[in-house]
Amino acid sequence: MANKDVTNPARMEKIVSLCKRRGFIFQAGELYGGLNGCWDYGPLGAELKRNLKDYWWRKTVQERDDVLGMDGAILTMEQVLVSSGHVGGFSDPMVDCKTCKGRFRADNLETSQCREKPSVCPGQSPKCELTEPRQFNLMLQTNFGATGEQIAYLRPETAQSIFCQYKNILDSNRVKLPFGIAQVGKSFRNEINPRNFTFRSREFEQMEIEYFCHPDDGMRLTDEWLEARLSFYEEIGIPREKLHILDVPDGERAFYSKKTYDIEYEFPFGIQELEGVAYRTDYDLGVHQKGAGKPLEYFDEETKQKFLPHVVEPSAGCDRTVLALICEAFDEETLTDEKGKEDIRTVLRFKPAMAPIKAGVFPMLKKNDEQVRIARDIQKTLQKWMTVFYDDGGALGRRYRRQDEVGTPYCITVDFETLGENGGDLKDTVTVRDRDSMEQERIRIDALLPWLLERVR
Ligand code: GAP
Repeated sequence: MANKDVTNPARMEKIVSLCKRRGFIFQAGELYGGLNGCWDYGPLGAELKRNLKDYWWRKTVQERDDVLGMDGAILTMEQVLVSSGHVGGFSDPMVDCKTCKGRFRADNLETSQCREKPSVCPGQSPKCELTEPRQFNLMLQTNFGATGEQIAYLRPETAQSIFCQYKNILDSNRVKLPFGIAQVGKSFRNEINPRNFTFRSREFEQMEIEYFCHPDDGMRLTDEWLEARLSFYEEIGIPREKLHILDVPDGERAFYSKKTYDIEYEFPFGIQELEGVAYRTDYDLGVHQKGAGKPLEYFDEETKQKFLPHVVEPSAGCDRTVLALICEAFDEETLTDEKGKEDIRTVLRFKPAMAPIKAGVFPMLKKNDEQVRIARDIQKTLQKWMTVFYDDGGALGRRYRRQDEVGTPYCITVDFETLGENGGDLKDTVTVRDRDSMEQERIRIDALLPWLLERVR
């Protein structure tokens, strides 16, 4: 069992710095000093995030017969969040320190603050003078109408619009239990202590499934979803041995949940939650049925039974998974050349399906018009299918390294052999260099597209 307290701040610092240097992630509003807890994804970060969301959607919705997708509004009616319990109870207990004026979550004072902000009073020093815990509501409110008379909220989770549209989706799609509704989208929480880069943000994306089922099947399906979600993480490049399953004990789960598993990952700042798989019983449909005063029961044609479906909810954080992908992919490899000189190669070892750029395309010599023409043609052909990057600047070795650093799995080089200049049999072939092994092989230009498509999806 890995130790929760083992952290590697130096590694995390390098990752954050790479993210900014190469355009993965920037702080929102940085130009004006920064907006705490909000992040902008740059060109490579946006591609990575899109690859993750697309893969999740493909695996969760497109490749399953029993899950439908939806895309709900972010602005949420007050009544919805009153019924769900968020208006009254979605809060964190916080304490203030009168000495350093810091504010900390009361429930994880010891475990997190000391390690992450040693310069800030952690509530541990003898000088600390802590207030009693107070509840801080995490919801972000906004107002509608000419005089702002109508209250609405930025949704704190994507789940609520799924519960509220469950009946419409059931009736309009002729589905039968068990079936799920999936959604990917932004959620907002007024986190008091955003921290660990994008890990705890105020604006973030979730990838949620609400899986509706017969009450007898809830426990079994919770275990099945846990397995499905663990396989998903393996497929995208987060190995099973870096994931930890916390079977949340009685008393620590939400009062309506019969079972909750937290899937945690070994981040450089400690083992932390990526996703929750929760058996929420009929709590959600129950409170909305009561709050709206409209029936949400399901009628089973075969058994003639009428009942409120139960729900199993695998709820993943998109930004957290992107961060886990980057942390997992980051590697520094020491290379030794023929003269014994050592050099460090920084590589992001993304699975090709996640990599922001699938292939770099280079003419060996920028000044050779024919090489440039062929490389541009290859770029144009591949671009219709995947993200590629054309680069003719500087030595070839440096171009490879620039692509290694952002995780591009393949680099294609057009050289003199391609032109048929050094003997004819390599004419119309290019070298394809593998990021991880750094080995090169020659491939015919007309075979490049299928060769790559087989590997990058
Ligand atoms: N509908 C259930 C739900 O929202 P949650 O555990 O509060 O449950 C689910 O959130 C996932 O959303 C978490 O496992 C995490 O990955 C992500 N998440 C929650 N709060 C977050 C935050 N402040 N910043 C980034 N991701 C967050």
